[in-house]
Amino acid sequence: MRIAVVGTGYVGLVTGTCFAEVGIDVTCIDIDQKKIENLKNGILPIYEPGLEEMVVRNAQKERLSFSTDLGTSIQGSDVAFIAVGTPPGEDGSADLKYVLAVARAIGQNMTDYIVVVTKSTVPVGTAKKVREAIEQELEARGVNIAFDVASNPEFLKEGAAIDDFLKPDRIVVGVSSKRAEEVMSKLYKPFLMNGHPLIFMDIPSAEMTKYAANAMLATKISFMNDIANLCEIMGADVNMVRKGIGSDARIGNKFIYPGIGYGGSCFPKDVKALIKTAHENGYDMRVLKSVEEVNENQKSVLFNKINNHFNGDLAGKTFAIWGLSFKPKTDDMREAPSLVIIEKLLAKGAKVRAYDPVAMKEASHTLGDTIEYGKDEYETLIDADALLLVTEWPEFRSPNFTVVSKLLKEKVIFDGRNIYDAADMQDKGFTYYGIGLKQ
Ligand code: UGA
Repeated sequence: MRIAVVGTGYVGLVTGTCFAEVGIDVTCIDIDQKKIENLKNGILPIYEPGLEEMVVRNAQKERLSFSTDLGTSIQGSDVAFIAVGTPPGEDGSADLKYVLAVARAIGQNMTDYIVVVTKSTVPVGTAKKVREAIEQELEARGVNIAFDVASNPEFLKEGAAIDDFLKPDRIVVGVSSKRAEEVMSKLYKPFLMNGHPLIFMDIPSAEMTKYAANAMLATKISFMNDIANLCEIMGADVNMVRKGIGSDARIGNKFIYPGIGYGGSCFPKDVKALIKTAHENGYDMRVLKSVEEVNENQKSVLFNKINNHFNGDLAGKTFAIWGLSFKPKTDDMREAPSLVIIEKLLAKGAKVRAYDPVAMKEASHTLGDTIEYGKDEYETLIDADALLLVTEWPEFRSPNFTVVSKLLKEKVIFDGRNIYDAADMQDKGFTYYGIGLKQ
């Protein structure tokens, strides 16, 4: 089979590379000439564990190529994936201008039957707009070429995207014809080895599935953050409560870790977009509005603890931060809670010295020289008034606490991810603050 993947961002690049990995002939297309040149030289625009090596290997085997020429690349392809950006507009709705521009370009260039698949996260009804855009172009050309549109949402997690793609929990595909279903079945056959299902459904349901999945996960997190905050007030320990409820299979033990709020490019954007879509269609998503509100508040809980501990006197103090990215194993700083915490600390006249294993370059684009960047986790601590654990990178899990306590001016740890054991920290002589713990 031969496919074209339009858009070499995070989703497009992982999708194209993983299809090439199982032997499919893939062309990844982007309008950004520089990006394509870099990719040809094995330079990736994003950090994702294992991806660079996989791109280079598949390119060498000539199963994966990169091009700026959409027209030639889609001719002879069985499937064209649209994986371009859908940035949130000012009102929170997804801006479809790039998706529809690609649809039009496909309509202008296609010569044979093709299945055009939306892979970007797009609102319910987008596949229909894609179909209309292609139809208009075919009409303008005065040709009649059969095609189908399909919706194939992705459920990749940053940092684990390759594994998620190669061994998916499920693959959801929305189609409106048997022919498209057959093409998509053939394409995804190599990924069904672990027995997990390929679920076909109608297109609007597939489009909605993506939003419902992210909204449900965001809801779990905000719910647990609410419970954590209440635990602190009531003298309960959220770690215990989490274990207590997580062993109920109906609830499940995943995605119920309280913290400093969800971030990233997906949950915040998708929750907002779903609220907006519902509102436009006369429905009020009350649960999701609260999910969002709780999440915004949660980004301040660590700062509030710091402020209380130091009686509001943060001016001139130095805070060491471990972790900047919105979660481990990515350099993604979009909607990272670290940004809110840093902003609040700086506003109070405090100094911040931060260390992140991969995200410092990315973070410096936003933070510039408003903060210092540590050489490593220990150097970051020198003479700091407290340590703030913001992103739970594996290398922060088991530091040498003797060194930590020697380097810190005051032995205080604010742990935004509950990665340390409160009793152990107290034994080691630290004043320790977690999220939702007994104080
Ligand atoms: C999320 C979904 O998990 C993917 O299934 C989906 O495909 C993706 O969005 C997307 O729409 O593209 P991602 O944003 O990469 O993936 O990150 P997650 O691992 O889901 O984490 C999201 C946020 O939730 C992070 O800020 C994380 O720290 C937070 N989180 C996660 C918690 O606070 N508690 C938890 O128990 C789990």
